[in-house]
Amino acid sequence: MFCDLNNRILPAQGHFSLLRHTSLKITVNSGGRLGRPFTGLEINRDADDAAFEVQVASSGVVIRVAADQTVAAALAASGVNLPLSCEQGVCGTCLTGVLDGTPDHRDLYLTDDERARGDQFTPCCSRAKSPRLVLDL
Ligand code: FES
Repeated sequence: MFCDLNNRILPAQGHFSLLRHTSLKITVNSGGRLGRPFTGLEINRDADDAAFEVQVASSGVVIRVAADQTVAAALAASGVNLPLSCEQGVCGTCLTGVLDGTPDHRDLYLTDDERARGDQFTPCCSRAKSPRLVLDL
């Protein structure tokens, strides 16, 4: 979908990627060529994203995270509301412990060492490399 700054839907045109962040790709629609006027933004889910599960350790409840859904959104839909602020993986407000499974870190908050430990992640944007994450909630 293309929208201009006034939320008008624009026809698909050539574009280039400005930023690939979290599970979304934000693309500047340049009208087909670099150097042409900015005409809008396109937001797409990463085509490689797949559904997975998260388990709330304290209750044992297992929640499915759809391919086009964030962990935070899936948790909220099940009544587990996390503190959120930026929802872009920048601020760390949603930082949550991971007891089992392998996070797919897509934030800009954690250091490389923290990511390598795999014992916490940002559910506003990060996903899973394993079929299930057990969350310290
Ligand atoms: S809400 Fe800011 S990193 Fe998740």
